[in-house]
Amino acid sequence: MMMMRPSLAAFLLHLTIIAISHAIYLDIHVPLPNDDCLMTQTLRANELLRSYSSNQNYDSEQVDLFSRHVPHITLFLADFDLELDDSNASESLSQLNVTKVDSFLAAISTINFTQVIQGLDCTVSLSTQSFIVEHNDDSNNNDKFYTINGAFTMLNVQNTPCLKALSSAILDPVESFVKRPIIVPSWAASLPEPERSAAIYRSRKYGSPNVKEGFLPHLTVGFDDPSRGSAASATYHHSSHADMNSETSMQWREDAMGQWNKGFALLMNDGCSSMVKGIAVGRNSIGGTVLANSRMRYWKVGNDLFLPHEHEAQAVII
Ligand SMILES: *[C@@H]1O[C@H](CO)[C@@H](O)[C@H](O)[C@H]1NC(C)=O
Ligand SMILES: *[C@@H]1O[C@H](CO)[C@@H](O)[C@H](O)[C@H]1NC(C)=O
Ligand SMILES: *[C@@H]1O[C@H](CO)[C@@H](O)[C@H](O)[C@H]1NC(C)=O
Repeated sequence: MMMMRPSLAAFLLHLTIIAISHAIYLDIHVPLPNDDCLMTQTLRANELLRSYSSNQNYDSEQVDLFSRHVPHITLFLADFDLELDDSNASESLSQLNVTKVDSFLAAISTINFTQVIQGLDCTVSLSTQSFIVEHNDDSNNNDKFYTINGAFTMLNVQNTPCLKALSSAILDPVESFVKRPIIVPSWAASLPEPERSAAIYRSRKYGSPNVKEGFLPHLTVGFDDPSRGSAASATYHHSSHADMNSETSMQWREDAMGQWNKGFALLMNDGCSSMVKGIAVGRNSIGGTVLANSRMRYWKVGNDLFLPHEHEAQAVII
């Protein structure tokens, strides 16, 4: 019997809600550097999922890290109040208010990320410590560097003091931009205490339960909405997290990721990690993805690299 940690249930349902809403969500994230082993392996996982997916009756893989989406580790994702005031009735037509976005980006620019990570090791590596814990088995000796749950396939990123510090540093500066009133998701009420109170508190205060102790860094490489291919799963979006586990286990994903994992495990001897080199803001899309070409700003992070004004790109509003 596989059990999910309450925080994972919260995390997955939060992403699901985002995936089906039309509001504009901005994702503050660590983009993977283009030229290293971890990027290659992240692309490889997505390539395998896309390839296995296209061999099914329906081509369900919606993440495309080759052209449509950016490989990234989300630090903070929320519904910010940045849209035009006179947004039309149709939410999908919402557009960003450039003035609001500029002050939002300026608020993030007040953070000295280099100072935030001073003394911390900002290596990004993968871990076999899954989001999922095996019930009645504390040995946790699984050798998978990935987690498949619900519609999501994710690489397990090692949760480090560096990533935690970066995520937490963003919360206060952007707090006033979170759209209010914040709707606390109903699933929060079904979490056991003390997670329940903590998740509700984080949602109310920050606009997302997936921060602080709810922060679960990962690289999303697949999002396969079963309702696209199977009528049996049509109620997926409304199902509980228990159903997400049982109804949506598509074996081809395990096959694809099993193949990926074998290759990745071989590389581990020589190390296959990356470094946090910067923080970016971009637009969130289906399955927790960040749209390619949606980047609004980028801040370099690290000693000798922090040149706060020279590297600011103009905000691009799409
Ligand atoms: C954009 O935001 C600014 C600052 O909040 C506000 O004064 C302005 O009316 C907004 N413009 C539109 C078109 O929503
Ligand atoms: C809303 O959209 C409709 C149809 O596109 C348009 O006719 C109308 O003028 C819009 N209203 C506003 C306030 O922009
Ligand atoms: C950011 O912090 C670093 C390390 O403390 C410091 O050297 C640098 O001057 C700071 N940058 C700014 C713009 O304050």
